[in-house]
Amino acid sequence: MNYKNIIEKVFLDTNNFPDKGIMPNYIPELANVDPAMFGVHLTTLNGENCGIGANLEKFSIQSIAKVFSLTLAYKILGEEIWKRLDVEPSGTKFDSLLLLEINNGIPRNPFVNSGAIVICDILISNLDNPKEEFLEFIRDLSDLPDLNYSDKIADSEKANGYRNVALCNFIKSFGNIKNDPTEVLDFYFDLCSLEMSCQQLSYTFTYLANGGKKITNNHKMISPSQSKRINALMLTCGFYDESGEFAFKVGLPGKSGVGGGIVAVYPNNYAIAVWSPRLNPHGNSFLGMKFLEEFTTHSELTIF
Ligand code: DON
Repeated sequence: MNYKNIIEKVFLDTNNFPDKGIMPNYIPELANVDPAMFGVHLTTLNGENCGIGANLEKFSIQSIAKVFSLTLAYKILGEEIWKRLDVEPSGTKFDSLLLLEINNGIPRNPFVNSGAIVICDILISNLDNPKEEFLEFIRDLSDLPDLNYSDKIADSEKANGYRNVALCNFIKSFGNIKNDPTEVLDFYFDLCSLEMSCQQLSYTFTYLANGGKKITNNHKMISPSQSKRINALMLTCGFYDESGEFAFKVGLPGKSGVGGGIVAVYPNNYAIAVWSPRLNPHGNSFLGMKFLEEFTTHSELTIF
């Protein structure tokens, strides 16, 4: 498969698309990014690489990091984890409080904000130095020893993250947050502040296309069953109330972030990352969604 030709063609076609979405404004720092940025990078399991546009530019990965925190928590706790959160699509926006009331503080899945906040609580309970140990885990997974949280982005969200504060306190009222909400939120905001490029993200996500193993040294990060389940959750819940649409149009497991990044995984083949900061009304990258739809249409390779 000549991925390079397809990526180049689809990149040019998508970039000409007239309506490109709007910049996020509820995290002020994210609105300071050049709206015209657009990059794509694909990494295959045998290490082949192909990128275009702003593929080497770092951006705020935001909710894409929820896949890494789930991976570490799942690795530590195993199936116990599902006592604290569910594995069902929410059909709601990523920061919705709606279903928590009827589900007694059990988030619908680990990718909506409420679920990712509970995962942070789990990590705090199970790690001596959660922020440092989580960072070490991603540094190893990504082979990026200098990867760090961005104070600028985290502080910008900390000063405005009222909905997340509400979510965390609301879940605490049901007893499903065990630690101090201030500490849980501080970790959550730091986790969301990580910055990576499309090239770095596509490489890092290859473990989910490779049954849970790193492609460079075959090191087992999680079991094949856990990798299958994380992929299943990305397919059904990775795009919040647009998850059905992503499965319908792209046909791959994926995860988006409000920084405009999207990662998609084609098991046993590749991981691909796309970045364009302008968002559609669901909080997912407008051009990123279009690109991936066209990419799997032209490559004719999906899990279906
Ligand atoms: O908690 C938030 O609202 C952000 N830090 C992350 C949300 C997000 O990335 C949603 N994704 N499309």
